[in-house]
Amino acid sequence: MNNNETKTDFLMARISQNENNQTVDINKWAFEKIKNTDEKINILELCCGTGKQTEYLVQKFPNATISCLDISIDAISAVKNKFHSHDSRMKFFNTGIDDFFKNNEEKFDIIFCSYGLYYSRDMDYVLAKINESLNNSGRLVVMGPYGENNKQLFDILLSLKVKLPDLVISSSSTFMREKVLGFSINNCNAIQIYTTQNNIIWENVESVMNYWKNSTFYNSSIEQEFQKIVEAQINSSGKFINEKKIMLIVATKNA
Ligand SMILES: C[S@@+](CC[C@H](N)C(=O)[O-])C[C@H]1O[C@@H](n2cnc3c(N)ncnc32)[C@H](O)[C@@H]1O
Repeated sequence: MNNNETKTDFLMARISQNENNQTVDINKWAFEKIKNTDEKINILELCCGTGKQTEYLVQKFPNATISCLDISIDAISAVKNKFHSHDSRMKFFNTGIDDFFKNNEEKFDIIFCSYGLYYSRDMDYVLAKINESLNNSGRLVVMGPYGENNKQLFDILLSLKVKLPDLVISSSSTFMREKVLGFSINNCNAIQIYTTQNNIIWENVESVMNYWKNSTFYNSSIEQEFQKIVEAQINSSGKFINEKKIMLIVATKNA
């Protein structure tokens, strides 16, 4: 098991925890915006996790071939189990994004990624490869966080003088705008950008602490102080709200 894979289990736990407390079903929200077709197209899903978005891809593109990729063997086993009845049109790759593109010669009509593209080791290389691997008029569809995502949790850390790691700031805040939108402007002739806010509402301290401990911005040295701030807020208002800012970019490659 490599480092990315270990972190993955925590990330998946965080996503599941959000699902139970969120105000917007972000997968439903996203797929209402992605035009479906029953043509025999070729789809690549990067960082598929346990298949939350694969479910929508399978339904909305009933005749498509879908290649699911994830660095985690557990994630790939989960999607294999979940979608075995569609085996004839599905392929599974247990590999990292960068390594996949080193060996890939296939072309795709849709390359989809939700909450994962920023894990690439070399983003510029991967974006160049995505451009090469998309058919003309193919779509790059990326969902991820942007802007003041996680503001309430980050504000506590800032008040405790914790410096957020650069990778946390870039993946949570600037990646969608700078990398994905930047790529789309240079290589695509139609770009649709959608945003929404998903409030994650926790009613007890333990849930907030669990979420934070599973995050990439956990810092054990300030755990007690962090907990005190959360406790004070829940005691005064009965809840703690963390705002997730979500961006969906659908970029159609120049024909
Ligand atoms: C936050 S989860 C998102 C899963 C799913 N797309 C979703 O939105 O629910 C990130 C996924 O990316 C995978 N991952 C992390 N680094 C990766 C890499 N370098 N290449 C491929 N997958 C990676 C993890 O294993 C994990 O399943």
